[in-house]
Amino acid sequence: MTQSRPAGPGGFGFDARVAHPARVYDYWLGGKDNFAADRIAGEETIAAYPAIRASARANRAFLARSVRYLAAEAGIRQFLDIGTGLPTASNTHEVAQSVAPESRIVYVDNDPLVLAHARALLTSSREGATAYLDADLRDVDAILEQAAGTLDLTQPVGVMLLAILHYIPDLDQARRIMTRLVGALPSGSFVTISHAASDISPEAMAEMIKRMNQHLAEANHVGRTRDVVAGFFDGLNLLEPGVVKVTQWRPASDIEAGGPTSLWGGVGRKPLPAWSPDPAGSAVSAVRGGTRRRPGLPRRGRTRTRPRRRCACSARPCRRRRPGRPDGLWRRSSGRRATPR
Ligand SMILES: C[S@@+](CC[C@H](N)C(=O)[O-])C[C@H]1O[C@@H](n2cnc3c(N)ncnc32)[C@H](O)[C@@H]1O
Repeated sequence: MTQSRPAGPGGFGFDARVAHPARVYDYWLGGKDNFAADRIAGEETIAAYPAIRASARANRAFLARSVRYLAAEAGIRQFLDIGTGLPTASNTHEVAQSVAPESRIVYVDNDPLVLAHARALLTSSREGATAYLDADLRDVDAILEQAAGTLDLTQPVGVMLLAILHYIPDLDQARRIMTRLVGALPSGSFVTISHAASDISPEAMAEMIKRMNQHLAEANHVGRTRDVVAGFFDGLNLLEPGVVKVTQWRPASDIEAGGPTSLWGGVGRKPLPAWSPDPAGSAVSAVRGGTRRRPGLPRRGRTRTRPRRRCACSARPCRRRRPGRPDGLWRRSSGRRATPR
């Protein structure tokens, strides 16, 4: 399924003389699907914040790690990737279907050039499915209505919002989008967000964003603080380690964790009703107990299914909340005793 729009000034509905976020990002990533205007914007922004290329690569690595987590550990089998960008390495369907070939993925973007390249995103495994929607994040209802042609929206979905919310400059509008989207998702769904930071290398980032906006038709790029980005997860339970630099979200190595980035990122889960059994099964303990492999430690042979953090009481698992901790969790020290972290 590919939805399209009428051709515009560029022949495919785009104007190659004006830089566009998807194509500047492609330039930062070393891609070839960009025009002179995008390359000029790319170079000027690199001059303001030289780590932007590494930051874009770190964002792709965060996408791959979070999708792999959702498919392998949380049991998610359907993804809605809004603000897909131009096809590159490790697209969402490739990562998800490498874990679970039956995964179904709907891509959404409003850039006609992404639409023109959508065929590269529609290379699903035989068991799964991929679809592309030419749609705008600002119209959540249209996205959900069309995505329902491929996804079962009564079952948990992994929504990917990577490096897109910072193109919604009106904060109230961005919050309304999140409220509508999260409200419509079934319980047990996950939302992954990455977002340009205004409080990481603030001066260089402010200059980078200013230069970017000088080239974008809509001049709509904004950076936001970690607290504001964390607010986009309202109504969701944030997974560990919370909203962090994207390099520090469950990094594969200490080197990855220490890499440069100008993006905040996190993953949240829509809570299940209190009375409901968890359809994701061991995913709950994966979320609460942290199946995360710490950098430098060997990969475990199997998924941890028991909670790692516990109260000192004898109930297993303990249902008491730990006072003073936002996550309400306890960590076991050794043997049968437990101590607060
Ligand atoms: C920086 S790229 C990010 C690509 C990919 N998500 C990633 O993180 O690697 C941002 C993408 O969001 C798209 N985008 C920006 N605003 C959008 C909107 N309102 N609706 C749909 N897509 C949008 C752009 O066209 C671009 O492809």
